[in-house]
Amino acid sequence: MSNEQMEHRLVPTHVAVIMDGNGRWAKQRGLPRSAGHKQGAKVFEKICDHCQKIGVQYVTAYAFSTENWKRPQNEVDAIMDLLRSYLQETLKQAKRNVRLIFLGERAPLAPDLQRLIEQAEESSAQNTGITVCVALNYGGRAEIVHGVQKLAQLAADGELNPACIDEALLGQSLYTKGIPDPDLMIRPSGECRISNFLLWQMAYTEFVFLDVLWPDFTPAHLDRAIDQYAKRNRRFGGI
Ligand code: IPE
Ligand code: IPE
Ligand code: MG
Repeated sequence: MSNEQMEHRLVPTHVAVIMDGNGRWAKQRGLPRSAGHKQGAKVFEKICDHCQKIGVQYVTAYAFSTENWKRPQNEVDAIMDLLRSYLQETLKQAKRNVRLIFLGERAPLAPDLQRLIEQAEESSAQNTGITVCVALNYGGRAEIVHGVQKLAQLAADGELNPACIDEALLGQSLYTKGIPDPDLMIRPSGECRISNFLLWQMAYTEFVFLDVLWPDFTPAHLDRAIDQYAKRNRRFGGI
């Protein structure tokens, strides 16, 4: 194997990231939490570009969890506004060859945001470059519950034999249908937990926790996490 092939093999196909630490970043600077989210959104775009450059094929970023509705209304509004701007910007830049997918329950989102999401997904569906999945109003448990409800309905309608429900079928009933499981999950901000992110999909994902706050996260941090990942021995239960 050539060096180049070797290097390529060590780049994860799918990187998941919990974009955490925006609030603390703002607090350190005496700024409102929304300023941290704004900076965090810029970093998200930069990191997606870097992932594309180094050959990562899928990035999944945790933007807003099912539990984040507990936050003050003005903070929730600020995050939703940033998503609106991101989507409007994305719709203008169709040339970037990025496929955009949203993971999570959409019905509780503002109708205009739901429409923007649909437009962005539809207009980017044929793009062949990196796939960027934004986890928005996403919860790993809620996702599994929804998948199970869909299958239970099919069974109740006589269209599915419960004995035929297997891991593949449940996996195809989730928001991440058709997307390979993450190889690497990065959580900055010093917290060492997954906070309801991709519970089903991360059964064998490698975790890297970093002390940096998300708004300070740079492509060099991503490279460092990938270096750690490349040294891991993934066994998937084998030897
Ligand atoms: C992550 O940053 C962004 C969201 C959860 C939407 P936080 O807002 O959680 O920042 P900290 O953890 O309070 O610093
Ligand atoms: C996880 O961060 C959710 C996102 C980054 C979108 P939180 O800040 O909500 O997680 P906890 O509350 O520290 O577990
Ligand atoms: Mg947080």
